[in-house]
Amino acid sequence: MNASSHRLVVALPGAEAFARLLAPQLGAGLVDLSYRRFPDGESYLRLLGDVRDAELVLVASLRDPDPQALSLWFLADAARDLGAQRVGLVVPYLPYMRQDIRFQDGEAVTNGSFARFISQAFDWLVTVDPHLHRIPSLDRIYRIPATAVASAPAIARWVGAQVVRPVIVGPDSESEQWVHDVAARVGCPSLVLEKRRLGDREVQITVPMPGDAVGCAPVLIDDIISSGRTMAVAAGHVGRAFGEAPQCVAVHAVFAPDALQVVVEAGARQVVTCNTLPHPSNAIDVSPEVAQAVRAHLDA
Ligand code: R5P
Repeated sequence: MNASSHRLVVALPGAEAFARLLAPQLGAGLVDLSYRRFPDGESYLRLLGDVRDAELVLVASLRDPDPQALSLWFLADAARDLGAQRVGLVVPYLPYMRQDIRFQDGEAVTNGSFARFISQAFDWLVTVDPHLHRIPSLDRIYRIPATAVASAPAIARWVGAQVVRPVIVGPDSESEQWVHDVAARVGCPSLVLEKRRLGDREVQITVPMPGDAVGCAPVLIDDIISSGRTMAVAAGHVGRAFGEAPQCVAVHAVFAPDALQVVVEAGARQVVTCNTLPHPSNAIDVSPEVAQAVRAHLDA
C-alpha cells in the first residue's frame, strides 16, 4: 500500500449491511453510490465521494449475478478513471461456480468465463467458501490474487454458543470439509450422510446409525440452501434417527422462493445462515474473517 493511499468501501445495492460491518474493521470510510436504471434498462452509476489515491474495496451481493455483473465492471473502471490506486472485490457469495466443465458439446464453461471477466476489472478478490467442485482452488481460474475465506470459525462460534451437546451432520460427501472443521473447532462428534441427486428438486439421502452421537443435538451444515431439497430430506431423516429436530445451518442463503418453507416443514428446529447473502435467516457474522483476508490484500 502506498503511503498516500487511504481505504474506502463502496457497496453495490444489496451489500450495504455487509459493507457497514466491514468498513470499521478495515479502518476504512464508506463512499455512497448513486445507482439507478434508465427506463431502457441501462445502469447509471455515480460514486458520491473522492476516490483519488484510494485503496477501494467494492462489496457486492451476487445472489442474482447477471443484472449486477456489468455494474461491477463499470464501477471498477470508473474508480480507476477517478484515480483510485487499486480496486478490490469482496463477494461473500461467489456465483458461477457450478459449471466448471463442459458436460455437453457447445456448453459455456461459465466459472472460467466469469473468473476471467472479474480478473480483468479487479486487483484482488475475497469470497467465502466458494463451491469448489472439480477445481481445487480459485487460483486455477482467477488471474488475480483470490482468497477463499472459511466460514467454519464463525459457524463454530455460533454452534458453541447456541447448541448444548451438538453433533455436526453433513448431508453429503461435499459437506465433509465444513463438517469436520466445525466439529473439530467445537470439539464434538460429526457424521456425514450419503446423498443421491435425482433431479433439480429431488434428492435421496441415507442416514447411518448415530453411533456415539446418540443423545446429541443434531446440527445439519451445508454450504448452500438453494431449492432446499437437500436440507429438507436430510432434516426429515436426521430428526427421525436422533428423535430430535435438527438445527439447519447453511453458509449461503441462496433460497429459491419456497425453499425456507420446505426446510421448516420438513422438521427443522431452526434455519440459520451466514450473512454472505442478505436473508432473514442470517444469524452468523463472517465479516471478521472476511476483514482479516481483505487486510492481507490491502497490506500486500
Ligand atoms: C451440493 O453439492 C451442495 O453442497 C448443496 O447440497 C446443494 O447446492 C443444495 O442444493 P438444494 O438446496 O437445491 O438441494
